Amino acid sequence: MEKAKESAAASAVSTGLRGVIAASSSIGDVNGEKGELIYQGLNIHDLATKSTFEEVVFLLWHGRLPKRAELDELREHIAASYEIPQWVRGPIEYFPKDAQPMDTLRTAVSALSFFDKESRDLSREASLRVATRLTARFPTIVAAIDRARNGKAPIKPRPDLSIASNFLYMLKGEMPDEFDAHVMDVALILQADHELNASTFTARVVAGTLADMYSCVVAALGALSGPLHGGANTAVMKMLLEIGSVENVESYLKDALAKKKKIMGFGHAVYRTEDPRATHLRRFSKEMGERKGDTKWYEMTAKIEEILKREKGLLPNVDAYSASTYYMMGIPLDLYTPIFAISRISGWTAHILEQYADNKLIRPRAEYVGPRNVPYVPIDER
Ligand SMILES: CC(C)(COP(=O)(O)OP(=O)(O)OC[C@H]1O[C@@H](n2cnc3c(N)ncnc32)[C@H](O)[C@@H]1OP(=O)(O)O)[C@@H](O)C(=O)NCCC(=O)NCCS
Repeated sequence: MEKAKESAAASAVSTGLRGVIAASSSIGDVNGEKGELIYQGLNIHDLATKSTFEEVVFLLWHGRLPKRAELDELREHIAASYEIPQWVRGPIEYFPKDAQPMDTLRTAVSALSFFDKESRDLSREASLRVATRLTARFPTIVAAIDRARNGKAPIKPRPDLSIASNFLYMLKGEMPDEFDAHVMDVALILQADHELNASTFTARVVAGTLADMYSCVVAALGALSGPLHGGANTAVMKMLLEIGSVENVESYLKDALAKKKKIMGFGHAVYRTEDPRATHLRRFSKEMGERKGDTKWYEMTAKIEEILKREKGLLPNVDAYSASTYYMMGIPLDLYTPIFAISRISGWTAHILEQYADNKLIRPRAEYVGPRNVPYVPIDER
């Protein structure tokens, strides 16, 4: 009888909250069976081929695509907020040069809250302004972090540039070519939202306590930094560098799979068919390689894809081909996850707005599996 009760309780636990519906949301939906991703009803393939990141930001926050005047207004507000306060920019230069950029970004974003007088105003109007400032400033911070650790002064943002172009411009100190800017723009679109992924859920949990938006975003950055979430894209590139050549792929994978190692960039908690984001990044990885005259990293990823599909039925996720795409753009490996954050800040803030608008504290229960009725033994008798 006791056994039966125990197993009934155990079956009620969903490890990793798989399959648990923890919020109602109109922001994004992932259909794992069909391999479909939508933002506010619009298919990611349409957005990736027809839209811009700024339009997608508006879409996520307002539930519909902007009219031209609305887009112009959003662009203006974003551009007006590109610059970060001196009291945040200054300390970035003194952060340890070998610090992980995700850690520096998290610290800088936390410091930004001191300079935002509206941070504790959770009304939709004020929260939208805070979200705009955060979205505008992430690229400026990430570029400043990379330049500071290389002993270079930050580049002043250019208000006439889009978020994607401006980021590449501030990172490298020169105007990006059109294709690179386009690829970055679409990469930002593709990673903007993904329903209740770990970092977005984290942001909503914090928002559920009615904490300010900066606290929600700092917590989300922590969740995104892990290798099973946003850290996977960097791990993919490290793996490709370790493998070194297309010829080595087969033996590397054989060995890794025998050791039950997880191959980064492959597999997904929800998709059971192709991750629709991978479809676009695969073509970018190929074209970027062709344009820059080195398709080796694309070919290696394609070979890994072929083998993992055959051997394990595993398919590429968003990180598989973004790694080689960014690598060929000359972006340092440890900036791949901060770039994910530059994109996902739009989705996080959309979810925080949604949570504030109809809030209930998020407080699940745990199945207690520890002992009970343990007698208290005084310290000298233990
Ligand atoms: C994303 C991820 C955490 C999803 O995990 P999940 O929902 O728990 O999926 P499961 O682990 O249940 O997958 C089922 C099986 O495939 C295996 N598997 C899943 N992803 C794998 C991978 N990348 N490499 C090797 N095996 C993998 C699992 O070990 C499991 O095997 P088992 O049944 O023998 O234990 C997992 O696929 C992973 O770790 N991928 C690599 C990290 C990554 O790319 N993250 C970015 C996600 S966008």
